[in-house]
Amino acid sequence: LILTQDDLKKIAAYKAVEYIESGMVLGLGTGSTAKHAVDRIGKLLRQGKLKDIVGIPTSNLDSHPVVDLAIDGADEVDPYLNLVKGRGGSLLREKMVEGACKKFVVIVDESKLVNYIGGSGLAMPVEVIQFCWKFTASRLQNLFQESGCVAKLRTLGEKAEPYVTDNGNYIIDLYFKQSIGDLKAASDSILQIAGVVEHGMFIDMATTVIVAGELGLIVKNK
Ligand code: A5P
Repeated sequence: LILTQDDLKKIAAYKAVEYIESGMVLGLGTGSTAKHAVDRIGKLLRQGKLKDIVGIPTSNLDSHPVVDLAIDGADEVDPYLNLVKGRGGSLLREKMVEGACKKFVVIVDESKLVNYIGGSGLAMPVEVIQFCWKFTASRLQNLFQESGCVAKLRTLGEKAEPYVTDNGNYIIDLYFKQSIGDLKAASDSILQIAGVVEHGMFIDMATTVIVAGELGLIVKNK
């Protein structure tokens, strides 16, 4: 039996759904892994095995300020359960909902595990306002010069049009050659730049990470 990456995502997602109890307010994320969780929840609701669930699709915190449990995928998970999110384009609303919940369960296949944030060599996204984005991008790149940072505007399609987020902003993807060290300090300096809206490092937010791999499931708790 050979499991595909999508099978692993599904296994992690189904495990996370076991944390849900009837009556909960849930934060539901986006991406191919979180989608499996949403599908599963739908099935359990139809079967009557779960009842009275309110799902907050990364909005509507105004009406439900207390979220019992959030379930979402991630792009990177480090050994301390810090995350990179937003490669799919969504990070600000996810951070608002997942920062407001009592429990945040992250579901990934083992390809997402890294030794340090940025360690996959793939993007760490920063959402910025459109105004003077080049200036903001160069400030971001300069901030992490010692880590060999390269900042690139995220674009779409052949015409390379700028990608626009659900909040009408641009995304600057940061690529690091080496670890950026203290994540809290890095986060503070990114957020101090005027023009930055939010970044994709989710530091000390996950309470549980469920990792599905060829050898089975690992559940890591904070
Ligand atoms: C959305 O922008 C991201 O934060 C996703 O959570 C992330 O990209 C994970 O997606 P997959 O589950 O599809 O890998």
